[in-house]
Amino acid sequence: MKTIISTDIEQAKYFLDKGEVVAIPTETVYGLAGNALSDSTLLKIYKTKNRPSFDPLIVHFDSIYKTEKFVQSIPEIIKKLAERFSPGPLTYLLNKRKIISDIVTSGLPKVAIRFPNHPLTIKLLSTLDFPVAAPSANLFGKVSPTSPQHVYEQLNGKIPFILDGGKCNVGIESTIVSWEKDNLIIHRLGGVSVEDIITLYPKIKIISNKNQEPDSPGQLKSHYATKTPLFFDNVEEILLKRKSKNIGLIAFNKKHTAIKSENQCILSPEGSLDEAAKKLFHSMHELDERGFDFIIAEKFPDNGLGRAINDRLKKASVNF
Ligand code: TXA
Ligand code: MG
Repeated sequence: MKTIISTDIEQAKYFLDKGEVVAIPTETVYGLAGNALSDSTLLKIYKTKNRPSFDPLIVHFDSIYKTEKFVQSIPEIIKKLAERFSPGPLTYLLNKRKIISDIVTSGLPKVAIRFPNHPLTIKLLSTLDFPVAAPSANLFGKVSPTSPQHVYEQLNGKIPFILDGGKCNVGIESTIVSWEKDNLIIHRLGGVSVEDIITLYPKIKIISNKNQEPDSPGQLKSHYATKTPLFFDNVEEILLKRKSKNIGLIAFNKKHTAIKSENQCILSPEGSLDEAAKKLFHSMHELDERGFDFIIAEKFPDNGLGRAINDRLKKASVNF
């Protein structure tokens, strides 16, 4: 199969209407999209990315009004969050109605819904008669794609079409929340920071994802891995244990003298965690192609989007 890369929304719609899966841009990462109401298409999504069937999919809409048929009541706090952060990098877990297949939710009672903020995809969704299910458009366990080229490298020949929306603006996956017994539960750290959520509702609980929780099966250890071994946290300590001249580095705002300057990706010289998040996966893809013995990623400040960055780097690393 030849994979077309194009900005043509009508062509994307043509393939989606036929039950095919296509890559679509969002502000977080590219998604591997298909008709969320077609079981055969849903199975194709899992198969295309070699994703285990126990890892559920997020359903994408262009408007909150269109969700009524698919979820039971929407709690007030979720409505408030949606007013503030949607369209945007926040995903809500809500009790599903029967029309949502168990294939979408891996048999769980809640369905994940999200309103992506990318002009091409919003337009595409508005022309479709169905919402689209879309996991990140990478092979299972690999680094998420933040450009059409990243998708092409992993899925060339496996999907007919990539809708080209340029580089992703946020660059890290959505934050996932649910509402349970007066607590806002954060299931995955992501593009909306914990600090921003707290301004709307202070009682939050972040679910630790060290272990595989039954209600957040996507938090598997092997996520986001580069082909090149990646070591995470304290650069000096890692360098003491591992000797090589052929090392790549991912760092926040300044270079490290012990590593060759041209081997270093400084994600934000100005010290912006938002900018760093936007470039994170890009730097992982880039360094992974350069044949280093290993990659070191330093620990980022643990606030704002720094928390989500550290979460991804930890999951990508071989030493955690
Ligand atoms: O930013 C994003 O969320 C991107 C773009 C494409 O929208 N999508 C994305 O999808 O990151 P994916 O499949 O790579 O990660 C979604 C995660 C799953 O791994 C799973 O942990 C969680 O969302 N999830 C989905 N449905 C769920 C459900 N019903 N209950 C609990 N967790 C769920
Ligand atoms: Mg993913």
